Amino acid sequence: MNILILGSGGREHTFAYKIAESTKCDKLYVAPGNAGTAEIAINLDVNPIDFEAVAKAALAKDIKMIVVGPEDPLVKGIVDYFTKDDRLKKIMIIGPSGRGALLEGSKERAKEFMAMYDIPTAAYESFSFESLEAGKNFLEKMKPPYVLKADGLAAGKGVLIIDDLEEAKKELENMLSGKFGAASEKVVIEEFLDGIELSVFVLTDGKNYKILPTAKDYKRIGEGDTGLNTGGMGAVSPVPFVDKDFMHMIEERIVKPTVNGLGAEDIDYKGFVFIGLIKVDGNPYVIEYNVRMGDPETEVVLPRIKTDLVELLEKTWESSLDKINLEIDERSATTVMTVSGGYPGSYEKGKEISGIKEISDSIVFHAGTKNEGDKILTNGGRVIALTSFGKDYKEALKKSYQSADKLHFDKMYFRKDIGFDLS
Ligand code: AMP
Ligand code: GLY
Repeated sequence: MNILILGSGGREHTFAYKIAESTKCDKLYVAPGNAGTAEIAINLDVNPIDFEAVAKAALAKDIKMIVVGPEDPLVKGIVDYFTKDDRLKKIMIIGPSGRGALLEGSKERAKEFMAMYDIPTAAYESFSFESLEAGKNFLEKMKPPYVLKADGLAAGKGVLIIDDLEEAKKELENMLSGKFGAASEKVVIEEFLDGIELSVFVLTDGKNYKILPTAKDYKRIGEGDTGLNTGGMGAVSPVPFVDKDFMHMIEERIVKPTVNGLGAEDIDYKGFVFIGLIKVDGNPYVIEYNVRMGDPETEVVLPRIKTDLVELLEKTWESSLDKINLEIDERSATTVMTVSGGYPGSYEKGKEISGIKEISDSIVFHAGTKNEGDKILTNGGRVIALTSFGKDYKEALKKSYQSADKLHFDKMYFRKDIGFDLS
């Protein structure tokens, strides 16, 4: 079958890499893709949030399956657009409906969902401009640090963690007055949870589920988890501190009630759930839901899946995930993200990348790259992720770092301490 992947980052290159391996895939397209996807698929100059353009391309290329990479098209309702249209509804589109995508699109909705199904999470209340004073009173009753979250999508910047009460009150007012535009018309204030973070990925058909490998990403730009938040500077899978008992707790207290909750509300959800967790005193709590795979977590999770990915996704679409076995590579995988100097602030693009061909111990996943003639140029903040395998994360990381040392572009930067908090 012909398959289309929507998106242009390292996550989408990884999906392309796994899908291209499948005997079930004939022609593979990525829209818009990057220089890496161009090597194994055909890039289409189509914007994933222009649903009409995606539909046109899907019909013209006889696409049978679409994998939606980023959250934006999902939250804007691309799945409903396809499933409600007679011309398009036979296309298997992997991702939740708009109602399902609200678990990421609205923090308030996610918290209400968790409260409804007894899923452990930080205590919270949500406020609008009309209830600003109540919000300030609520902050006064809480202990620092104060966690303020814009309700809607804010490009990963919508969470503020503030130590000072007066500053927190001021920020609450700023947010409700439009600091993040419509995304912060409502703000969730929640209890701060002190622990270590990890992520669990679930593939669900709305009824059955498969738990994919765990991963831990490193979001801050600076070593020792300092400085600004980024999309992610590296990742490790599996998470070494997740043992059988802790995984069992996660499955019973979080994964099952989440999938059952989707079912109870009759939500059409055939796709990935990325559950951001925090381990506090040995117990798992949900920090957030995302309705897609993570980036760069995908770069370590998918390479460890031995089961044919297209078959897994087909079973997801057919609501028969219970009919397939998930086989996982026992080895560890790590990825190190190389980024443009200045990221996540302002940075330059168009720098020539060299050394890719010298890398043999890692899989090179392109994030922000483009072709120009026979050159590969930087085209984003996150540029290339280097994924490696090893008997444990330390062995894998060594390879990722050896590969990073072979790669060059002007002002290239990467964190040298991925996994620092694991041993
Ligand atoms: P989010 O955008 O919801 O993933 O939040 C961004 C980051 O803020 C998370 O990865 C956590 O590091 C942190 N965070 C969010 N909520 C809390 C919380 N209730 N307690 C502690 N840290 C949090
Ligand atoms: N790496 C975090 C995310 O994809 O949201």
